Amino acid sequence: MRFLKTAILLLSIPTSVASSHCHENCLQSARRCLKVDDNLMVIRSCKRESANCRDSCRKAGHDDNPVGLPAPLPFPDKHVPGAILHQHEGAAGLARVGQDGETLPILPVGYYQYTINQPHDTTLANEEVIHSMSLTAPYVSSASPDQKWFDDMDAFLDRAHALNFLVHFQLIAFETLDNSDSVMANMTVQINHFKDHPAIFAWYLADEPDGQGIEPSLLQPKYDLIRQLDPTRPVSMVFCAGGAANYLSMLDLIMVDPYPIPGSHAATVDDTLKSVAVLGKPIMMVPQAFGGGENWSRGPSIREERLMTYLGLLNDVVAIQYFVRSTGAFPYAPNAWNEIRKVSGEISMLTSALAGGTRIKDITADNDNISVGAWTDRDDSVVLVVANIGQEGLKSSGMFTVEIPFADADSVISQFEDSESVDFSSDGKTVTIMDYLRNYDTRVYRIEKTKQTNKITDDDNMVYNPSFDVALVPGIIDGNYVSPGSDDGATFAQDGRISTNGRNSLRLSNPVSDQGAGFSIAPYTIGDWGHGLDGSSKFKFSVNLKGAEGGEEVTFSFTNTIFDIDEAQVVKLTSEWQAFELTLTTIEEPVCPYGCRSWLSYALTTAGTVWLDELSLVAA
Ligand SMILES: *[C@@H]1O[C@H](CO)[C@@H](O)[C@H](O)[C@H]1NC(C)=O
Ligand SMILES: *[C@@H]1O[C@H](CO)[C@@H](O)[C@H](O)[C@H]1NC(C)=O
Ligand SMILES: *[C@@H]1O[C@H](CO)[C@@H](O)[C@H](O)[C@H]1NC(C)=O
Repeated sequence: MRFLKTAILLLSIPTSVASSHCHENCLQSARRCLKVDDNLMVIRSCKRESANCRDSCRKAGHDDNPVGLPAPLPFPDKHVPGAILHQHEGAAGLARVGQDGETLPILPVGYYQYTINQPHDTTLANEEVIHSMSLTAPYVSSASPDQKWFDDMDAFLDRAHALNFLVHFQLIAFETLDNSDSVMANMTVQINHFKDHPAIFAWYLADEPDGQGIEPSLLQPKYDLIRQLDPTRPVSMVFCAGGAANYLSMLDLIMVDPYPIPGSHAATVDDTLKSVAVLGKPIMMVPQAFGGGENWSRGPSIREERLMTYLGLLNDVVAIQYFVRSTGAFPYAPNAWNEIRKVSGEISMLTSALAGGTRIKDITADNDNISVGAWTDRDDSVVLVVANIGQEGLKSSGMFTVEIPFADADSVISQFEDSESVDFSSDGKTVTIMDYLRNYDTRVYRIEKTKQTNKITDDDNMVYNPSFDVALVPGIIDGNYVSPGSDDGATFAQDGRISTNGRNSLRLSNPVSDQGAGFSIAPYTIGDWGHGLDGSSKFKFSVNLKGAEGGEEVTFSFTNTIFDIDEAQVVKLTSEWQAFELTLTTIEEPVCPYGCRSWLSYALTTAGTVWLDELSLVAA
């Protein structure tokens, strides 16, 4: 039945792609180009050149709109574990449904990679996960895979999932194949094999189909088949120019890959992003992270990487996938990649607002060279993102004033400048910020009713940063000595998407269940230096905990030269928040006269992901 349906569809889509001379010339030269070299990079630039060529045909009035395509389907909307949702309950971006059914906003940041079975391939995600990256798209598509291919892919997906990485699954080997029963059967086997894997992010069906002149009628049945087999994940395609409009009924996510450096200014990615935004589908950005060959004499500089990525955020992109990460080779400037890691850490701190919050409309700066966007976060604070897109070099003026409809602001901080306070004025309705940005610079302000400092639920709490809200270095909570475990893919991070107090919680993740695999966290000392705790006294220890799936264990070990307790306390979690409380008694005086260092250490001692909040120690 399935194949009958697709066959009818195929017949019912007359297209006029390549009908005009102009388009046909572009496509012929693409075919010649593709014949010369089958290197992946070269293939990409042949397709890209042709896509740009066809775009100029369109601009010159040579129409190529296919007719008779079905109306585009809405984004998948199934609330089952692993599903990817868009604008869930009014949120701005994507969300993912966890194993326990809980939906959390995501703004995945990651990269393309070339292979999955070379030695470095397995360590790449380990290296990047601590930099808050969470997405990879390996170029290992096959339409006629053998058993080893399936085995390698299964292993790759399993490890990705253990690291909380998502995999953008490439199906591009099918893009130019016909829709015969045998091709569709092979695609069905692949989708059915992988669709229940929790690491799958989206099905990446075509790479620059417009540039290659892939008839929409060739892709529509494949899209229909994927959506029928897996109603939980979106289908994506990448475009560098205006061709996406002709494929709207066979995609859910438009990827755009403007690679402007060094031929054009980094700020020109803004135009590319805006040109696809009008098509009404969520956008994923593929920023340039390569250069030095072909048409690109150099890769983007540090500030170009930063500006391009932030322009993606300002244009509401829902995911970011750099092209390309191949350690040592692309990008070959380690500090360009370091800047990408830094931006990734920043995005992780903005995810609750940019993906889970709502965008405030119609905010502009009084300077055309300053691009602005503002989002309301889950704690009602407002995140304001600004970028200087001036193209006059250092002469572009960077003075600006922005007005944000936000009453009663008590504080405005520059979030990635050590959360320092910024001057602002408020008339009770609108907050006005005046500041300066050098060209290419970006800045993130947070406007709050009350400043997120060392906010404590109980004034007598002796724990520093008990709600994990203080993090001067993006994503890394202040106030702990941490000891890495045996698995270098384990992570600890501030998470603004979920908490019981303040905006943030601490998230711990372990890829494997070995004891000692993950980080152990030793909170900053309690008690005044030189004045320890009272001896033989009772204290109440408490903390809130939640597991991603339930069944995870967090182990708390107190120091028996401070507290009269020997056994480690193992807390088994559920997927709901629960409080763990314990009464502790100090030893006889003197109790830690030189500061109570190492009074506690705790660690996730199973595999999985857990959150902690409101760590507290008070006199009982
Ligand atoms: C490469 O440069 C040439 C000459 O500037 C240009 O015509 C062509 O479109 C460029 N190709 C790509 C892939 O950017
Ligand atoms: C389908 O996959 C099988 C197994 O990998 C392969 O032998 C066959 O050639 C494929 N068929 C098509 C039409 O690609
Ligand atoms: C903004 O940039 C343009 C071109 O890059 C420049 O001509 C203009 O003077 C700048 N405007 C301001 C207010 O600096």
